[in-house]
Formats: sequence, C-alpha cells, structure tokens
Amino acid sequence: MTENIIPHDHAIKQADRIKKLGYRPILIWFVGLSGSGKSTLASGLESKLFNEGINTYILDGDNVRSGLNKDLDFSDESRKENLRRITEVSNLFVDAGTVVLTAFITPFEEERKKVREKMGESYVEVFVNCPLEECEKRDVKGLYQKAREGKIKNFTGIDSPFEAPKNADIEIPSHQLSIEEGVQNIYDLVIKKIRVVGSQESE
Ligand code: ADX
Repeated sequence: MTENIIPHDHAIKQADRIKKLGYRPILIWFVGLSGSGKSTLASGLESKLFNEGINTYILDGDNVRSGLNKDLDFSDESRKENLRRITEVSNLFVDAGTVVLTAFITPFEEERKKVREKMGESYVEVFVNCPLEECEKRDVKGLYQKAREGKIKNFTGIDSPFEAPKNADIEIPSHQLSIEEGVQNIYDLVIKKIRVVGSQESE
C-alpha cells in the first residue's frame, strides 16, 4: 500500500531539533500487568523530567484506547494493532522533540522487539515486574474480579497471556520498592541517554 508513497525530504532534520533542544528525545516504554504501577511510575518520572525543562508526553491506555484506538478490543490481533499504532505515534513524537513515556501492558515479546528495532538507541524498556497475585490483590479498577467472574474475557494474566520481558533495560519490582525509589532508578538510567548526546550535539 505504500508503493507510490515517496516521502518528502524536509529541510529540518532530527539532528537540528536535538541541537536546538540541547538534549536527545527518547521513548521510555513501560511494560507490565494491569495494576502493576506503570502509569504511576511513568507519571512520577514525567514530573521529574518535565521540571528539568525537558518536553515530555505520556501515552497510556486511557488516552489512546478512548481516542485513536477506540476501535480496538483485547484480542491478540487488536493488541498488536494497538501497539503498532502507539509505536508509530511515539516515533513521530520523538522525532518532533519529545521524550515519550508509554504505559501499556505490551504482553507479547514479538511486539516489543518491533518497537526496539524501530527506535534503536532511542528506546528504553522498563519492566514493571509486579506479581499477578499482588496486582490482583490491589485490583484498583476492579477488573481482575470481573475477569475471574467471567464478565471480562481475554484479561491479561487470567485468560490472556503475558510474556514477561527477558531483556528489558531495567526491571522495577514495584511491590518491593517505593514509587520514589522506582522513579529514581529509571531516572538514573534514562537521564544519561537524554543528556549525554544533547550536550555534545548542541556545541
Ligand atoms: S495492551 O495489551 O494492548 O498493551 P493496554 O495497556 O492498551 O493493553 O490496555 C490495558 C488496560 O485496559 C488495562 O490496564 C485495563 O485497565 C483495561 N482492560 C480492559 N479489558 C482488558 C483486558 N481484557 N485485558 C487487559 N486489560 C484490559
């Protein structure tokens, strides 16, 4: 379908944007079960980066599945399409100069591999590793109970698979760390990627 699509070679490149910004925009992708703390950690990290003058934006289930992806359900195929679109949108945001933080379950290794391949050095995968029992105990949205009662089908961890990441860049056991500790650990990793090249390229 892209056969007759020939992209225009625009004058302003990402290197120009990096030079202007003074830092390198990246994609920080949070993976984990529903209720594991992805959005909480992403939000804490975003505040820290934002307060340092870095442009940031969070993409999560609530803002994406109620708009751009409201036509998608929770079948394996829809989840893949959900993640494909999020990858494309994230890539555009990063290209435009924004540090993007995504909070989606992202249950399949194949999909995570595709994001990493597309984004290369600009991708950091954060596995928010909270055991199913703990997520279910918290049940912040009451969805695990509904899934157990059979009122929701294809619920991740109950009757839909979750392939735990084996090569995430950082793992946060959110049931063992405070939110502040978790945020700080991720910050220490990502800030090196965001700042290091920016300072060289802005000279
Ligand atoms: S993903 O699998 O496609 O990455 P995504 O992160 O967008 O999932 O959406 C997950 C959120 O949708 C959960 O946190 C939960 O609030 C809600 N949800 C509703 N139905 C389901 C379901 N069947 N499985 C998982 N999450 C669901």
